[in-house]
Amino acid sequence: MTISNTLDLPAGLAQAQRGTDTERAGLPDLAELNRLANQFFNAVPGTTEAIDNVAGFAIPQTVPVASADPFAHFSGIDDAALTELAQRSHGVPLEPELKTLVRAHVPGLDRRSGVEEGQASAYYFLTSIAQQARDPFLPGLGSAHPPFDVHAVRRDFPILQQRVNGYPLAWLDNAATTQKPQVVIDRIAAFYLTENSNIHRAAHELAARATDAYEGARECVARFLNAASANEIVFVRGATEAINLVAQSWGRQHIGEGDEIVISWLEHHANIVPWQQLCQETGAVLRVMPVDDSGQVILSDYQRLLNAKTKLVSFTQVSNALGTITPAQEMIDMAHRAGAKVLLDAAQSVSHLRVDVQQLDCDWLVFSGHKIFGPTGIGVLYGKEALLNATQPWQGGGNMIDDVTFEKTTYQAAPARFEAGTGNIADAVGLGSALDYLSKLGIDNVARYEHELLVYAMHALQSLPGLQLIGTAPDKTSVLSFVLAGHSTQEVGAELNKAGIAVRSGHHCAQPILRRFGLESTIRPSLAFYNTYEEIDRLVSVLKRLQCSKRIFGG
Ligand code: ALA
Repeated sequence: MTISNTLDLPAGLAQAQRGTDTERAGLPDLAELNRLANQFFNAVPGTTEAIDNVAGFAIPQTVPVASADPFAHFSGIDDAALTELAQRSHGVPLEPELKTLVRAHVPGLDRRSGVEEGQASAYYFLTSIAQQARDPFLPGLGSAHPPFDVHAVRRDFPILQQRVNGYPLAWLDNAATTQKPQVVIDRIAAFYLTENSNIHRAAHELAARATDAYEGARECVARFLNAASANEIVFVRGATEAINLVAQSWGRQHIGEGDEIVISWLEHHANIVPWQQLCQETGAVLRVMPVDDSGQVILSDYQRLLNAKTKLVSFTQVSNALGTITPAQEMIDMAHRAGAKVLLDAAQSVSHLRVDVQQLDCDWLVFSGHKIFGPTGIGVLYGKEALLNATQPWQGGGNMIDDVTFEKTTYQAAPARFEAGTGNIADAVGLGSALDYLSKLGIDNVARYEHELLVYAMHALQSLPGLQLIGTAPDKTSVLSFVLAGHSTQEVGAELNKAGIAVRSGHHCAQPILRRFGLESTIRPSLAFYNTYEEIDRLVSVLKRLQCSKRIFGG
């Protein structure tokens, strides 16, 4: 993974020792590093001699690759000197020069902060960002937070290096699926190269390795969500399967005629249809909490829906169509006060926000691996352990049983209870690796960077004539749904694709919420931490061009 400052020469040399990592990370290879080091010493007269005198070494012609410590010969030079050496050798300005450059560009920085100073904003977060008056390009300077080096991070994603229709790919379809870092691709390959076996059931070495890898991934998910135990983590195909599992196991066991299930208007079809089916089967009633014109749930109306008949509240933490962040904590507490259980759909939130299931106190939480930089076909159902163990199994078969006779079967405890048959072992392992990757980047760093990017994009899109943003709740993340006057959503999507920009256009599997705004479809760019300000600028310039051509040619 490449999240550190790529100017860090020691880190670079350490990487260089591991040949393939070097290429993957886009770092210079050994020969290049030697050349740069020599160039530095030649370019700064006296330095070689000075360092020789202090440290008693000379730059070797070849770095001793076999050495356990490639920096042994650097001992005696302090970190600052090495950093300076690395920066100079890469032709990069040093800190005092950087500060001068930043000061010289302060007026330009405001352009990136989303709003002009003093300008009122419809979004509280635009104002707060402007007040912070710092440059998202250089968030480490004048900021209490460490910098987020998006260009270094992008090198971890091989697919982002390609061109589409002659342009660098701008992947702005992250709400549909996310791209995979090299570590995830490598981890899945390593599984098939060295560990592949069915789990739990054999006496041989590979079964032990595969079981360790799979159960290790479960531990990793538990840590990521701050679950009380790995037993609370069930691997499924994705969020959709997880919701169906709860509907058809717990739902059939506990929901009856006249009971009520509450969902929100924001829901993805995956959090509507399984409950509709359950209601048809059982005679229960589906209630829907409305949203306001910004796309936020109306808590007072939600409160009015809750009553003694409410058995379940199931809602999304982030809307896939609008990006609204619902007040999940408050909504869960309200549901519990009414005696209802709560399922939280975190498919669109886990990749953007810190999610702590113990703090939220939700009864179940679901997400899909492919939306969080992991593989497709793997996802997670979190459930409180006692609840899972008190719930009847969904699918029957191998792995989930304790004992089988023709008369009777007894079942395993969770999670095996809900994992009938051979699961998606390799992709569970890949998901674990994706969560580790994201954790190392730091979900709070990611959230901060994405928030600033979203603010910039919202501001830029709002300034386009004829463009209407759909979903303007003050609390939102990642998603930028809009319609453009005079152009079909399909046409806009196709035009962006011609420029190498990938967005989704359509109903986003969330028809009710779009119809709430009188629409059948929108164009939906959606962001991840590897997206850049330049990509937003490209998006905006294609839209501007479209609008201009309409005005000029009236097409
Ligand atoms: N649920 C995915 C989306 O929102 C497919 O696009």
